[in-house]
Amino acid sequence: MTKLNEISFDDWDEQNNLRSENETDFSHIVSRRAFLNGSIVLGASAFLLGTSALVPTKAQATIMSNGNKFKAVTANSHDTITVPEGFNWHVVAQWGDPLFSNVPEFDHAKRGTSASQALAFGDNNDGMDLYQVDGANVMVVNNEYTNRGVMFGYNESGLPETIEDINKGKMAHGVTIVEIAKKNGEWCIVKDSRFNKRLTPDTPINVVGPARGSELLKTVDDIEGTTILGTYNNCGNGRTPWGTYLACEENFNGYFSNSLGEDAPLTAEQMRYGIKNKDWGYGWAKADYRFDLSKSPNEPNRHGWVTEIDPATGAAKKLTALGRFKHENAEVVIASDGHAVVYMGDDERGDYLYKFVSAKTYAEDGDNSTLLHEGELFVAKFHEDGSGTWMNLKDAGMSVQETLVYARIAADKIGATTMDRPEWIAANPFKVEAYVCLTNNKNRGREGMQQPVNGVNPRANNQYGQIARWEPVDGNHSSADFKWDLFAVAGNPDVHTGPNAGSKNINSDNMFNSPDGLKFDKFGNLWIQTDGKYSNKDGFAGMGNNQMLLGNTTTGEISRFLVGPKECEVTGLTWSVDHKTMFVGIQHPGEKGDSQFPGGAGTIPRSAIIAVTRQDGDII
Ligand code: FEO
Ligand code: CA
Ligand code: CA
Repeated sequence: MTKLNEISFDDWDEQNNLRSENETDFSHIVSRRAFLNGSIVLGASAFLLGTSALVPTKAQATIMSNGNKFKAVTANSHDTITVPEGFNWHVVAQWGDPLFSNVPEFDHAKRGTSASQALAFGDNNDGMDLYQVDGANVMVVNNEYTNRGVMFGYNESGLPETIEDINKGKMAHGVTIVEIAKKNGEWCIVKDSRFNKRLTPDTPINVVGPARGSELLKTVDDIEGTTILGTYNNCGNGRTPWGTYLACEENFNGYFSNSLGEDAPLTAEQMRYGIKNKDWGYGWAKADYRFDLSKSPNEPNRHGWVTEIDPATGAAKKLTALGRFKHENAEVVIASDGHAVVYMGDDERGDYLYKFVSAKTYAEDGDNSTLLHEGELFVAKFHEDGSGTWMNLKDAGMSVQETLVYARIAADKIGATTMDRPEWIAANPFKVEAYVCLTNNKNRGREGMQQPVNGVNPRANNQYGQIARWEPVDGNHSSADFKWDLFAVAGNPDVHTGPNAGSKNINSDNMFNSPDGLKFDKFGNLWIQTDGKYSNKDGFAGMGNNQMLLGNTTTGEISRFLVGPKECEVTGLTWSVDHKTMFVGIQHPGEKGDSQFPGGAGTIPRSAIIAVTRQDGDII
C-alpha cells in the first residue's frame, strides 16, 4: 500500500472523487454518439492539424527561434541534470537555504525548525518569475507543498509528529521572494537583501474584487471577510505586463480535517472542492484551528484563489474576480481590444478551462494595479467540429459572489467541457493563440465518471496527456469564439500502435508523458515540462525521468532539452533579463526516497532552482 506521505494530491482526491451529479454537459451526448458511429476519428484526425511530418532524427540539431541550436538529449534515469552538449547548469537556491545571515545553514539531519524555515527558501518550488527592481534581480517563486517523507524522514512515520513538526511543514509552504545575483559566474542568493521575504500560510493578505466581504468568506477572526491569513499550495504562476506576480493556489483542500470525526457532514460545495474530514497527514488542524472544519467552516472558501504579489514590497492581494478553483497557472495577455485576459486551468480530472476578461482596459503607461479586480469569468466549451465557445459564468444564475467562490459549480450548471486535468496555459507572443497541457486522466471514458471521450480529450484512460491549443476567431483574446486543435498527443510509439503511440510529432527520440509546465520564451520557443511516470518501464519504457522539451509551434517539432534527476518533477521556468540564463525548477527529487539530488552521497534530496547557461555565453 502506498504510504500516506507518498500519495499525490490527485490520488488523494481520487479516493473520494465526488463529481457533481447534476452536470449537464451536452458534449457527453455528442461524444457518445460520435463514438458509437465511429466518427470519433474526427478527434484523431485533429492530432495532425498544424503538425507537419517534420520530425527530427537523432542526428539533427534542433534550431531554436533565436537561431541557436542544440542536439537533443536522450531519455535517462540518472540522478542528476542532463543538458545538451555545450550547456552548463548549477544550483541557484534550494529548499532550506537561509535568506538571512542570522539563520542557520540547512541541517541534513534535522532539516531545520519552524523558525528557520520561516526565514529560508521554501520546499517544492514550482512556478517562478524574475523581476528587475532598482537594478536588483528579484526572484518570486511558489513553494507548493512539502515532501513529507523527506522533511520528516527522521520520524518513523515520515509524517509530522509534533506541533513543531507541523509548523515547520507549514512554514515551508507559500511564496519565497529572494534577490539573486551572479558571483564568480554562478547565480546565488543575496542574503539579507531588503527584497528577501517569505509569504507563508499565516501571512495576512488583502481580499479584492467582488467577493471581498462576502458572507462566504467571513470567519470569527475576520468578521468582515476582507483579510485572509495565508497563501499556500501555489502551483504555477503568472506575470502581468505591469510587473506583478500571480501565485495560483491549487490543492488547498488537502490541509483541512474535522475534529468531530471522519463522518461529520460535509456540504455539497465542500465536496465539489474535495474538502474532506479526514486528515491527510499534514496535521495543520492540530496546530491551527482555522484548518478544523468544525471550528472554521468558511476557511476553505478563503483559499483556491489567485494572489497578486508586488515583487518589490511583497504586498499581496487575493483576486476574487478570477474565481476559486484548483488553479494551475494564470497566463495574462492584453487582447487586441485592450482588455486584460487571464487564461486559467483547474487541475482536477474532469475540471475546466477558464478565462477572465477585465472590465477596464490596459493603460500602457498608466496605473493598472486594479485591472484584475473587476471583470467577467468564462469557461470553455469545446465542440466536436474544432470550434469552441467561452461561456459566461453569470449565465449559471447564481449571485456574483457565489459564482466566484463556487466557480466550479457555476461551470457545472452551464455545461462546460470536462478536461483531462488542465495544467499550465501559455500564450504565443507572436500569434494570437494559446496552448494548454492536459496532463492525463485515468477517469476519461470510465463508467460513472461523467467524462466521456471527446475531441479535445480523445483517449479513454488517458495515461500520457496532450497539448491542445486555440485561436480566437477574430484575433482577439477577449472574443467568445475560438477554433482549437491538438498540438501534440503524448504516447509511446515503441510500445503502442494506435492512439497511445501519440501524434505524428512524437517518436522514440522525444517521447514523454504528462505534459504539465508550459511557457513561451520571448523568441517564441514553446517549453514543455513534465510531471509524469518515471518508472521507465512498460508503457513508459524509454521515457526516463521527468524532463523539459522544446516545441516548435510552426512545424510541430518537439526535442528533449533537459532531463531531471530521479523522482523529480520539472516545473517552473524563467530567464535572466539578458536571456543568457534559463532558470528551471526541479521539484520533489526523491519523493519516494530514491535520490540524493543535488548534494550527492550522504545528503537528503532537496527541491531546487537551477540555472542553465551556454558554455559560449550566448543567449539561451
Ligand atoms: Fe501543482 Fe497541477 O500541478
Ligand atoms: Ca503542475
Ligand atoms: Ca501535474
